[in-house]
Order: sequence, then C-alpha cells, then structure tokens
Amino acid sequence: MMPSLRDADVRLSERHFRTIAELIEGQVGIKLPPGKRLMLEGRLHKRMRALNFGDLNEYVDNLFQRDHLDAELIHLIDVVTTNKTDFFREPQHFTFMKDVAVPALLKRHERGHGNLKIWSSASSTGMEAYTIAMVLDDLTRSGSRFQFRILGTDVSTAVLRVASTAIYPRDVLTPVPEHFTRRYFLSSRDKSRDEVRVVPELRRRTHFMRMNLMDASYPVDRDVDMIFCRNVLIYFDKPTQRKVVEQLCNHLRPGGYLLVGHSESMVHSCVPGLKQVQPTIFQV
Ligand SMILES: C[S@@+](CC[C@H](N)C(=O)[O-])C[C@H]1O[C@@H](n2cnc3c(N)ncnc32)[C@H](O)[C@@H]1O
Repeated sequence: MMPSLRDADVRLSERHFRTIAELIEGQVGIKLPPGKRLMLEGRLHKRMRALNFGDLNEYVDNLFQRDHLDAELIHLIDVVTTNKTDFFREPQHFTFMKDVAVPALLKRHERGHGNLKIWSSASSTGMEAYTIAMVLDDLTRSGSRFQFRILGTDVSTAVLRVASTAIYPRDVLTPVPEHFTRRYFLSSRDKSRDEVRVVPELRRRTHFMRMNLMDASYPVDRDVDMIFCRNVLIYFDKPTQRKVVEQLCNHLRPGGYLLVGHSESMVHSCVPGLKQVQPTIFQV
C-alpha cells in the first residue's frame, strides 16, 4: 500500500520545519508560516525519495552536512516555489500595455519609434513573457513602428527550463485568442504529444535567466520600459516588498511602468515618487 502523507516518514518535526522555513525566507524571501507545513511536507516528499532518505527530517539534517546545501538549494527552491501562471493572466494589463503604455512610451522614445524593453521579473514558465511578446508583435503588424525585447527572470531553474524551450501542453492555450493561437504557436509533429511551441520569431526576442529578487542588485539594464512583477510580492514580508519594488523601479526609464498582481496593489505606499495609474499599475 502507498504511504499516506500522514505517515511518520513524511512528517517534519517542528524544529526541522522551522529550519527549512528560515532557510527559504532568507534565500528567496518566501514566508512559510506554520499553516504551510503540510504543503511543504508533501512537496519535499518526492525529493526525499529521489535522494533515498528514509524520512524528511533525515533529508533536512543532511542539507547542513559538509557542502550539501550548495548542491541541493536549487532543487529545494524549485520545490517550494509556487509557479502557477497562465497565458493572458489578468488580461487587463495587456490591454493597458497595448492601448496606453506603448503609445505613451513610444512618444518618449526618440522620434516616436524605438526599442522597447520589457521585463517579466517572476516569469515562471514564460507564459507572461510570451503573452507580452504576442501582444507587442500584433501591435507592430497593425502599423506601430517599434522593436521590442523581453527578458524573463525567475529564481526557479525548473520553470526557466520550460520557459526557454517554450513547449507547453495544448490545453494551456484556452485563454489565448484563436487568431493568436494560429499565428504564434506550432503544433508538435509527433501527434501522440499534444503539445505546442511558441514560434521562433517570438522566441528570438524573449530571453530568460535565473535571478533572485532578493539579491542586492540586479544584472539588468536601467532603461527598461515596463516591468511585470506579478503574483510574487505576495509571498514576501512588507520590508522585502518595499526593497524589491524600490530596486525594480531603479531599472525603469523615466515614465516607465511597474505592473503587479491584483492582490499586490499595496506597493503604492512603499515607494515615494511612484505614481499609481490604476490599482495595480504604477509609473515612475
Ligand atoms: C505564482 S508565479 C507568478 C508567475 C507570473 N508572474 C504570473 O503572474 O502568472 C510566482 C513566481 O515567482 C518566482 N519567485 C519566487 N520567489 C522569487 C524570488 N525571490 N526571485 C525571483 N523569482 C521568485 C517563483 O519561482 C514563481 O515562478
């Protein structure tokens, strides 16, 4: 019989839970309150089995022996991060980008046409970045004259692998408008795999790299036009939210926009000089 999640080998002692929670908050800013213990146990279980440990506490003890943590941290971060995302998630942001932000930003660029830089700063598997790419490419087809480049960053290597290959199960296309599906996705040649891939024209303009928002500085240009930082600040405490938002704003060009998730509109009060344009859209 399969062990149930309540069996002894998949329980974390109070002390071991606190150890992991402190480690994760220190490394990536994600808070793990006691209510997340069951979730953490469930997620660590597969990792514990993969490494042949008899129970979860043994796995945690082993992390701190010799240099094990260096090698395991990346996997641990993959396991604890919540990577839920969608194409066209919170679609009003993409409407704003198309109708308001891009025309305003292009006016500020020399002679009304330029090279827009957009940053998806907690990109997960890349659906946010490729949604931006589809909407911008579509705009250029309807007469707007500009080039664009998109950077996607995330702390989890597992999601970045998916983002870079840009291959997804077909059913994630549900929110994508039909004509975009036809124009921007290729179907797998192997019909037994019901998968699609973002077309090379968009992949060429979209790059991904690992970056931790908790880092003291970000290796990113300082003249970015729009930064999407959606559905990640919610996991951080207030001082961390403030620090991250301040640092991100230092990478925006004057007039650039910061977009946050629908439950993260509080960042407004964090940073002086940040103008609230809509509940979840800010401008420097
Ligand atoms: C819920 S997803 C949101 C994805 C996308 N922005 C969206 O709204 O659909 C949150 C992402 O933030 C990433 N993340 C969590 N902590 C992070 C950190 N300290 N630095 C960078 N990315 C982080 C996670 O790995 C995860 O992929």
